[in-house]
Amino acid sequence: MPGVTKMQCLLFQLILTSFVLLDSVNNVNAGITSSFIRKEFPAVDIPLDHEVFAVPRGHNAPQQVHITQGNYDGNAVIISWVTFDEPGFSKVQYGTSDKNYEFTAEGRMTNYTFYQYSSGYIHHVLVDGLKYDTKYYYKIGNGESAREFWFQTPPMIGPDVPYKFGIIGDLGQTYNSLSTLEHYMESGAQSVLFLGDLSYADRYKYNDVGIRWDSWGRFVERSTAYQPWIWNAGNHEIEYMPYMNEVVPFKSYLHRYPTPYLASKSSSPMWYAIRRASAHIIVLSSYSPFVKYTPQYLWLKEELENVDRKKTPWLIVLMHVPIYNTNEAHFMEGESMRSVFEEWFIHHKVDVIFAGHVHAYERSHRISNIMYNVSSGERYPVPDESAPVYITVGDGGNQEGLAGRFRDPQPDYSAFREASYGHSTLEIMNRTHALYHWNRNDEGKKVPTDSFVLHNQYWSSNVRERTLMKHNLSVLGRTAS
Ligand SMILES: *[C@@H]1O[C@H](CO)[C@@H](O)[C@H](O)[C@H]1NC(C)=O
Ligand SMILES: *[C@@H]1O[C@H](CO)[C@@H](O)[C@H](O)[C@H]1NC(C)=O
Ligand SMILES: *[C@@H]1O[C@H](CO)[C@@H](O)[C@H](O)[C@H]1NC(C)=O
Ligand SMILES: *[C@@H]1O[C@H](CO)[C@@H](O)[C@H](O)[C@H]1NC(C)=O
Ligand SMILES: [Fe+2]
Repeated sequence: MPGVTKMQCLLFQLILTSFVLLDSVNNVNAGITSSFIRKEFPAVDIPLDHEVFAVPRGHNAPQQVHITQGNYDGNAVIISWVTFDEPGFSKVQYGTSDKNYEFTAEGRMTNYTFYQYSSGYIHHVLVDGLKYDTKYYYKIGNGESAREFWFQTPPMIGPDVPYKFGIIGDLGQTYNSLSTLEHYMESGAQSVLFLGDLSYADRYKYNDVGIRWDSWGRFVERSTAYQPWIWNAGNHEIEYMPYMNEVVPFKSYLHRYPTPYLASKSSSPMWYAIRRASAHIIVLSSYSPFVKYTPQYLWLKEELENVDRKKTPWLIVLMHVPIYNTNEAHFMEGESMRSVFEEWFIHHKVDVIFAGHVHAYERSHRISNIMYNVSSGERYPVPDESAPVYITVGDGGNQEGLAGRFRDPQPDYSAFREASYGHSTLEIMNRTHALYHWNRNDEGKKVPTDSFVLHNQYWSSNVRERTLMKHNLSVLGRTAS
């Protein structure tokens, strides 16, 4: 809320929270509007001299270390970091035992300017040919200022491989962001599905934009250096800022956060797919062209055909703008993508679609609205067991604060909604069952608030396949329920 004083903000939030309370009292729908009223931390960015942004000591010390999946099936990582004093080397030493680095990988260095800010030297190194399900240690930088980290590769892809994902969106760098990050790190999840809007550096002007990208990189390093975050861009990554002659969209994001898009034959780092454990994850770009015949459209059509539910039963789609959202904030912004892709999501039995953008939490019932016909008049989403569950987790805690005003009455396709900060986890048990949790940040505590068992759309509805699987398992002398 630019140009609004803090007092007005607080007042506004007070009014909003009472709205939420009224909502839950009056609501006659099956959906739940939570009556929880959270205590407001100030939605302001943590000052730059705070220890969460501490610069590692030493000449040219690597900072802002982050890793992401490096290929299609997960036995590669891209390791990225920034150095400031000199270019140094884009070199990673790594191995499977601590302090014993058998291998070396080299990558590339890039840098860019933004207004009068010059970025540090940004290094990206692909480390591939890794063993699955193995802990690797790695070292970057030189001499006294070298730094060491580790990560665990995922198990080889397979239909019943358990795996726990975290889901975070719209994070920013406030005290609320810090709670979200800390709570996420307690969850035991192995990788983050990030839903776009990373640093909110674009809320600043001139050279401070670059400076706040750097501080964010140091802020999230406590997690991103040790496990892959699967990136997706939001509107705050666009950074179209003509008043300072910056008009190349996604400049900071693309220089800093690489994705393994070539591995899924995508033509752009903005949209791509990976397979990890038992999941096939498709990342879509809400802010790249997606209508019929565009590269993203053609790519998605083909990628959905490539999904093999016998290898990766879980089909998960990430995007920034939610397709189903009952908040006043960003209401119906996802309609354009819905009209193009919803039919495919249903046809291909997508299990769950995660989005961010709206600074609140919401989960839908399984519904679809594919019968809409612009000539025949209004349509409304209908219950549809073959449709995905839509979940909005845009509540990481950035400086814009919460989106507290939900539409009233609660539309019947909305199952649960609450305007609080938090994060989600999706714990895949096997090919049929996954446990889902949304965890609210509640005055420094992590409180599991919304949870359910997600039944796999392919395996739970496919009786023939299930029978075959049971037969196979009994042949192997195992039992299946
Ligand atoms: C990148 O770094 C090199 C080496 O320091 C420098 O000469 C060049 O101007 C930088 N480029 C940008 C775009 O900042
Ligand atoms: C859309 O509605 C119009 C008017 O009812 C009807 O003539 C047309 O066949 C419908 N189109 C589709 C694709 O269902
Ligand atoms: C059962 O086993 C056969 C032969 O190994 C295999 O081709 C098939 O995909 C398996 N089916 C399931 C559902 O696991
Ligand atoms: C998957 O796990 C759930 C929960 O533990 C269990 O009830 C179910 O039988 C398992 N399904 C298979 C196919 O193993
Ligand atoms: Fe957004």
